[in-house]
Amino acid sequence: MQITQPLLNWWDAGHAALPWRATRDPYAVWVAEIMLQQTQVATVIPYFERWMARFPTVQALAAASLDEVLKLWEGLGYYGRARNLHAAAQTVVNKLDGHIPNTAKELMQLKGIGRYTAGAIASIAFDEPAPILDGNVVRILSRLHDLPDDVTTTATKKKLWQLAADLVPAHRPGDFNEALMELGQTVCLSANPRCEACPVTAVCLAYQRGTQWERPVRPPRKRTPHYDVAAGVIWEQNGGERFLIAQRPLNGLLGGLWEFPGGKQETGETLPQTLKREIQEELGMEITVGDHLTSIKHAFTHFRITLHAFHAVHTGGVPRHIGVANHAWVTLNDLDTYAFAVTDQKIIAALDKRGGKVARGQGGKVAKLRSG
Ligand code: ADE
Repeated sequence: MQITQPLLNWWDAGHAALPWRATRDPYAVWVAEIMLQQTQVATVIPYFERWMARFPTVQALAAASLDEVLKLWEGLGYYGRARNLHAAAQTVVNKLDGHIPNTAKELMQLKGIGRYTAGAIASIAFDEPAPILDGNVVRILSRLHDLPDDVTTTATKKKLWQLAADLVPAHRPGDFNEALMELGQTVCLSANPRCEACPVTAVCLAYQRGTQWERPVRPPRKRTPHYDVAAGVIWEQNGGERFLIAQRPLNGLLGGLWEFPGGKQETGETLPQTLKREIQEELGMEITVGDHLTSIKHAFTHFRITLHAFHAVHTGGVPRHIGVANHAWVTLNDLDTYAFAVTDQKIIAALDKRGGKVARGQGGKVAKLRSG
């Protein structure tokens, strides 16, 4: 299949001027590729610029605290990416003399760098003809070859990696791979492919057969499960002005981010009961649950939640780190240095709108106390 020259000509005739395309600094390319995993280009741009201003080198990143790293990532999602990038920067500085590996094979030894990202960095920053394969490239390849196979199976993925490897040219592999990405983002679109603007229709089997809307083939999506989750804005005893926030365990979903503590509702429980149980289990504390503050819907990759936030008051036990990494008693003004997930940012916004402490209810007590 001959697509190299038409694709590179199309790329040379004009492509998006993205901040990470102004450099071949492997560190900058690495940061961009990690941010671009599962995230749209337009979302990444301001994050990338802030990041590079604050951590311009792998040494600067390695020296930063995890809290600061997560704060700069706040809102981008998939926070394991930030933790892995930080850990991998420390590996490069402490074990590799500050040199970022220059082959895809060695790059894959670093935390958070899979085959796609390794191929992207190696080809863009080091001119290695390494292939890339993500959702966009899968779509392009399955159309070019008019593949009738389910692209989610291991066997088809293996075949697609081979097709991608066969395509990457020895000359300008980085430009070629970025051209593929851009073709997937601007022309070879999933629902409404713009075949009239495509530089490679002459060799596209799906285009010639009119099957482009049916490619790639995927099994029907399963509906994702839904959970109700309770979270508490737990105020200090004796009418104090501060409330409790907890840091999630460093491993796992949203690891290292700060949140209003709580957890998943179990069958037969009311939400206030859920909250009391979770606070006992995770922090060893007693609380009284008060007014409902807000409920927030959020979709993760494999499940959806409705997060129900309640005011509560601390009534006994000192916070212990049983199911949390850390805790802090804070006011709204202290929150700037803590990184929160999007859902918890919405709780903060609801608290803020209702005037922080005032929102607790009359006379500094939680209004309409419920003993859940
Ligand atoms: N998506 C993943 N990597 C990318 C890159 N280098 N440019 C644009 N979009 C991308």
